[in-house]
Amino acid sequence: MTKRILSGMQPTNQLHLGNYLGALRNWVKLQDQGDFETLFCVVDLHAITTPYDKDKLKQSTREIAAAYIAAGVDPEKSVLFAQSSVPAHSQLMWLLATMTQMGKLSRMTQFKDKAGKNKEKAGLGLYSYPVLMAADILIYKATHVPVGDDQRQHLELAREIVGTFNHRYGENYFPEPESVVLAEGARIMSLRDGAEKMSKSAQSDMTRINLTDDADLIAKKIKKAKTDAEVLPEKFADLDTRLEAKNLVTIYGALTDKTGDEVLSMFAGKTFSEFKPALVDVAVDHLSPISLRMNELLSDTDQIDAYLRRGAERANAIAQPHIDEVMNMMGFWR
Ligand code: TYM
Repeated sequence: MTKRILSGMQPTNQLHLGNYLGALRNWVKLQDQGDFETLFCVVDLHAITTPYDKDKLKQSTREIAAAYIAAGVDPEKSVLFAQSSVPAHSQLMWLLATMTQMGKLSRMTQFKDKAGKNKEKAGLGLYSYPVLMAADILIYKATHVPVGDDQRQHLELAREIVGTFNHRYGENYFPEPESVVLAEGARIMSLRDGAEKMSKSAQSDMTRINLTDDADLIAKKIKKAKTDAEVLPEKFADLDTRLEAKNLVTIYGALTDKTGDEVLSMFAGKTFSEFKPALVDVAVDHLSPISLRMNELLSDTDQIDAYLRRGAERANAIAQPHIDEVMNMMGFWR
């Protein structure tokens, strides 16, 4: 069977360091390894499950596509497209919704976080979000899904839906998609609170480093990042109770391809006033070429639109035969 990767990100706000270290840089590694067929989409249908600005959606979609390319996604090697330009995602979602239990959807932590206290007022789109995500993956019969740690639960649900579909309609039709989560960087935390994940939707921009931040802003955010008064220890495990310190060391390690212990072998005994400038240097070195390239790409939206159109054709060519097969298997008049 073809080993196929599918993943996506929402066009809500800018991408941040968590998206990059948890997922995007892994996509590029997997694409370049050449063992997989790779599909990467901008999940614009997911982005409308919480309030959004309709006048900005189109441009946000282009911006996320530009960020993918700037970080190394090659629109020739990989299929790069917008989710909404492949109708089979939404069609399959409906079919899969009929085999997904509400109890399971109610237990999804992302739904609970986003719906907040007032679950009764949350939209059906937000509630059924993981079913659309399962459809994104299954419509291509993807076998591997590179994501950050926070998406594991959604992947588990997708596997359960596969179990139900295969049992009812056709043994082994859909493969069970595996999540591919990196050891380092799978869970990057807020710069202001080491117990909260870095997120696009957090109110304060000081909690995250965006891929488009310039060197001065990156330096300012890292300088103001919350830490503690102690020096850095020798062992990464000793940071388990110092969440903010642990996060900064994790970020340094993820940016330089080092383990936490390797980073600490360079900085043990040092204070944060010594560590932070070093972290600023690696973050700026790493991110400034990406934001430069992103800006170049965004100056020619025709080119980005052309990539997205070509990606949509390629994605539809894979998805359409699958939705036809599924509808036949489910017994529809065709
Ligand atoms: P989204 O847009 O919230 O995030 C995109 C990717 O970034 C990862 N990520 C993080 N990784 C480490 N630390 C963080 N603080 C952090 N924040 C986000 C996410 O795990 C994700 O991999 N439901 C998905 C989008 C989606 C999708 C799909 C993904 C829709 N359909 C199909 C894979 C396959 C989401 O909301 O990602």
